[in-house]
Amino acid sequence: MIQAPDKDALRVVMRGYRSNNEVTAFVPTLGNLHDGHLSLVRKAKEVADRVVVSIFLNPTQFDKPEDLAAYPKTLENDLALLKAENVDLVFLPQADEMYPEGSAARVEVDGISEILEGDSRPGHFSGVATIVAKLFNLVQPDISVFGKKDFQQLMLIRRMERDLDFGIEIIAAPTAREESGLAMSSRNNYLNEKERNEIAPGLFAEMSKIKQAIDDGERDYLTLQANAIDELSKKGFKPDYIEIRNAGDLSVATKDDKELVILASAWLGKARLIDNITVSLK
Ligand code: PAF
Repeated sequence: MIQAPDKDALRVVMRGYRSNNEVTAFVPTLGNLHDGHLSLVRKAKEVADRVVVSIFLNPTQFDKPEDLAAYPKTLENDLALLKAENVDLVFLPQADEMYPEGSAARVEVDGISEILEGDSRPGHFSGVATIVAKLFNLVQPDISVFGKKDFQQLMLIRRMERDLDFGIEIIAAPTAREESGLAMSSRNNYLNEKERNEIAPGLFAEMSKIKQAIDDGERDYLTLQANAIDELSKKGFKPDYIEIRNAGDLSVATKDDKELVILASAWLGKARLIDNITVSLK
């Protein structure tokens, strides 16, 4: 596995792959890798000749400096995991190279950036769009793989890719879950054992109950949402939102919508968990 510590080193290797006409798939990460990330890497391996992963703890997408400071830094372990997956190239840039003094350009994706996660975390999606655009420009992959776990982020990246004509195929990989149903996330590290094993799986359980109710014909979405918020509060969560939305554009779901997504965010102890389930009505 080649390690590229800066942009120049990355460009040299990428040029080599391109001159050999090798198809490249790119998986961007913040580091602190877990099985969820590795499932994205495996997807990338299935669809490309070369897999490129970036590890960059992007400061501009953290709305609170304390969250950035608290993010676990586990580089040695991350590199060992990627090596075991036979990743070809890992890009490890430093913050001052990605954001040189006076760096002022930003990428904004209007509308989708302001609702749900964007409403709870002002500036977050501008930081995500900006860093992913920069990484796309640097890596210039054929394909890039993102997790469905961050549903709104995935939608934002798809729009940005289309609107700015990157010409990169965006592939969505399914959410990796623990046996309990809990979606894998670096944020799970902030949970204590009881929270992680006994309470946190309740988020997926509540979303699954909503899905079941919708599958059974319930269309009073406001009541379903309100009941889930109550249940989560009783279980010890501090819910931020549970919303049933149109899966195509994230508008508030109507009775006639056929493709829905249930999006949830809730605090549990020190962790703010997010998750989603899609529902297809025939
Ligand atoms: O989903 C993430 O880990 C990050 O938002 C991403 C896409 C790597 C951008 O920093």
